[in-house]
Amino acid sequence: MEYKQDKIDKLNERLALAKLGGGQKRIDKQHANKKLTARERIDYLLDDESFEEIGALVTHRSTDFGMENQIFYGDGVITGYGTINSRLVYVYAQDFTVFGGSLSETHAEKICKVMDLAVKVGAPIIGLNDSGGARIQEGVRSLGGYADIFYRNVQASGVVPQISAIMGPCAGGAVYSPAMTDFVIMVEQTSYMFVTGPNVVKTVTNEEVTSEELGGAQTHSSKSGVSHKTSINDVACLEDIKMLLSYLPQNNRETPENYSYDLKDEIRDNLSDIVPDNPNKPYDMHDVISGIIDEESFYEIHKDWGESIVIGFARLGGKSIGIVANQPMAFAGVLGVRSSKKAARFIRTCDCYNIPLLVLVDVPGFLPGTDQEWNGIINHGAKLLYAFCEATVPRISVITRKAYGGAYDVMNSKHIGADFNFAWPGAEIAVMGAKGASEIIFRKEIAEADNPEAKLLEKETEYAGKFANPYRAAKRGFIDEVILPKYTRRKLIKAFKSLESKEVAKPIRKHGNIPL
Ligand code: HXC
Repeated sequence: MEYKQDKIDKLNERLALAKLGGGQKRIDKQHANKKLTARERIDYLLDDESFEEIGALVTHRSTDFGMENQIFYGDGVITGYGTINSRLVYVYAQDFTVFGGSLSETHAEKICKVMDLAVKVGAPIIGLNDSGGARIQEGVRSLGGYADIFYRNVQASGVVPQISAIMGPCAGGAVYSPAMTDFVIMVEQTSYMFVTGPNVVKTVTNEEVTSEELGGAQTHSSKSGVSHKTSINDVACLEDIKMLLSYLPQNNRETPENYSYDLKDEIRDNLSDIVPDNPNKPYDMHDVISGIIDEESFYEIHKDWGESIVIGFARLGGKSIGIVANQPMAFAGVLGVRSSKKAARFIRTCDCYNIPLLVLVDVPGFLPGTDQEWNGIINHGAKLLYAFCEATVPRISVITRKAYGGAYDVMNSKHIGADFNFAWPGAEIAVMGAKGASEIIFRKEIAEADNPEAKLLEKETEYAGKFANPYRAAKRGFIDEVILPKYTRRKLIKAFKSLESKEVAKPIRKHGNIPL
């Protein structure tokens, strides 16, 4: 692998020019659909003139394979700090034009330096990844560099937000740094992530698969769940990062920024017409979410993965909240392996960054079947339960319709530490649906009846009359109040406000042992 001298000179010229301000232009429309350079990405991401580069003159120390003659300032990664919407962030952007953005010992040192600074001052870290992985010419020194980054990812976890954008290749062990950050955003068509690439896959398993199929943005957003969000191009990805940051605090000691909001009467009549009269008819929980939150403020995460639960950030009266909501449109809103993992992770993210949780419940139970059992629904469901139980941020539930069985307990019930639990008048809180319950407890009576079908219907109606409502739970105090849908927003704004100073004493221990 030989770099020609003219190529080296050209690159160094470009790097120097950009450093001197040549790269400080905003991206015009012409560039919007192209892969941007590392410096253009930083320029677009940060507020104008705010970027301060660190280590622009750093070069690698390799002497093998003629590397001593191939020196590039910055060594394939641009690092530094700046502001986004006037808030401090630390950033690194890998430059694919320098040795394929590959990670050398010094490249890693530069990233570690900004990570350390970010943790010390309490500011988010944003990594713009575009790299062929460990610098092959450096052997174990580059592997060590990766491990130095991994270690810091974990030390920073839950201390400052870490956001990874995948804007090109991210292969081999390199994937584990983004995987340990809070959010992974992938650019469609131009990025991919995999531990072993298509060639190795072909050799080992004889499967023919393209990079895109194996680890493209679509794959990781719909099949593996590695990617929290996909963006159509570089510019959209950088916009998504800015938007995401607006919901997060700078660090775990702060709360997210408040957006100014003038409270009105906050009654939302349109919430009354969303849940159908027929309990077996689906409806879109997004309509409930948008009926409750500040206009257009929902930032959905993991949209195409584990769809029976909807998660994302929003604002309520100008304040950042995390939403976890069952989705009746997907598998009737049952909890499955993916949806449980998805929600559990999100709850923990909100909890470590002091973002209150709103839980919208319409859940008929856990998804049955061998596929779910053999894939560990017991463990994954336990993750969700565990995550709710340990979360100490303000937590409020609204049961919009069904809350059946174990899923009632799991979905932020009063018993596991929710602060306020509300239910709409049509809520059904029971061990199971009326039909299933009647078939079990009145089996004999139904079988012996002259008209079993009529008997079942009679018993079903009797059971539904007793349990297909929220009042039994309200009598026990498991529900604090039964509210009309149109008052939900007003009720929630007040309830969250009352919880702002919430504090929970936790038992002394090293850490809990979540069933991973
Ligand atoms: C050094 C590298 C490099 C690497 C790419 N380049 N990857 N140099 N180390 N890891 C160089 C190429 O030699 C080339 O140099 C230039 O970058 C652009 O690469 P191309 O191959 O021309 O680009 P493209 O066709 O787009 O393919 C990109 C690619 C491919 C798919 C990423 O370069 C590739 O497969 N690279 C190796 C990937 C890999 O196996 N990495 C190690 C993974 S293991 P010239 O001079 O021609 O422009 C790993 C372990 C981490 O990372 C362990 C952590 C625990």
